[in-house]
Amino acid sequence: MKGEFRFSNRFSFQDGENEFAEILSEYKSQNVFYIDLTTSNPTQAGFQYPSEAIRHSFQTADLITYLPDPQGDKKARDTIREYYKSKGIEIESEDLFLVSSSSEAYSYLFKLFCDAGDSILIPAPGYPLFEFLSVMEGLRTISYYTKKENLWKLQISDLEPTNLARSKLLLIVSPNNPTGSIFTAADFESIKELLINYNIPLIIDEVFSDYVYDGEVHSTLIDTETPVITVNGLSKILGMPGMKLSWILLSGPAPWKRKTKEFLELISDTYLSVNTPVQNVLSDLIQWRTMIQTQILKRIQRNRTILKQIFSELDLSKKILCDLPKAGWYCILESKAFFPEETFSLRLLKDKQVYIHTGEMFGFPEVENSGRIILSLLTETESFESGIERIIKILKEAENS
Ligand SMILES: Cc1ncc(COP(=O)(O)O)c(C=O)c1O
Repeated sequence: MKGEFRFSNRFSFQDGENEFAEILSEYKSQNVFYIDLTTSNPTQAGFQYPSEAIRHSFQTADLITYLPDPQGDKKARDTIREYYKSKGIEIESEDLFLVSSSSEAYSYLFKLFCDAGDSILIPAPGYPLFEFLSVMEGLRTISYYTKKENLWKLQISDLEPTNLARSKLLLIVSPNNPTGSIFTAADFESIKELLINYNIPLIIDEVFSDYVYDGEVHSTLIDTETPVITVNGLSKILGMPGMKLSWILLSGPAPWKRKTKEFLELISDTYLSVNTPVQNVLSDLIQWRTMIQTQILKRIQRNRTILKQIFSELDLSKKILCDLPKAGWYCILESKAFFPEETFSLRLLKDKQVYIHTGEMFGFPEVENSGRIILSLLTETESFESGIERIIKILKEAENS
């Protein structure tokens, strides 16, 4: 080939391995033990899965007959309707489109509503993958900043008119990753007029909706006056991201829904990505929901209790602020000692072999002289406790030096 290899400009942000990745791969290759407080893959977090029963379901299901439906198999969609019904939410199977992952759901929705170069509004702090998913579709992101004093809940004042005017979509994650904030029906009512005035469909990612604590309630939002689209899937509901089954749930004015379905069918027909076997065993799989979620919820509660204990025993409240989340799989620690975040987290990884995510990675705004770190509450409890102890130790060492 003559000259330089040519690739899409999508990858212009990619400039080689970062220092974290280098250290982690060195630890792995040299069998150095480190504590990973970033684990978000439930299949690697020590939970028991009903593998035999699932194997049996696949053995007895029809894995071959191919009857493609752009919306996904009707029986599988009925199973999802029943899932919502068990939570007291009435939906129609006709309003569901099955996809292979939430990420794919976004790629369909971005294709449906946006053209290359368009902008979309994404939450900060929020799910880091939104940036990449947008880049892959040639879109620009505009972050809207929720505030700690509002418990990270979206307020109408967080949405600037100029940004609304140039955005094609508003994305909300509820419960949010990583803050756990929940977008309620009342919150929706407060921004509904704005959505109508700016003609912006709302996309709500509710993958963490079954993981809610302290008496908080999450309810799926369905509306008939303005487009509200929900994204969810087995990744978190069953803790099985590898099953590759997620969905898009449409709600909104009837004429809008008709047109939306027509275009979404076209996109979906182009790829037909959801595999037949997983659709045919969905009604079996979903029965394991309580068994799997109970383990995950127990782990999260235990880790939350440990955090509370450590913080009350050591009276760390002046040094580290700990936001125990009301939902979701993450918790946020804030301290002057974590500033600058990257320097602190690199030191923690090098000196104490503890791997954490920085607040910056989730789009937390930089606060002068204060840093945030994000911990996964999915971490096995023993490791979680040791990890926190090592974090406290490194702070104490810094104080005494
Ligand atoms: C907010 C949010 N949405 C979606 C996903 C991933 O979903 P999927 O595995 O279905 O692409 C994650 C994973 O952590 C997430 O945090």
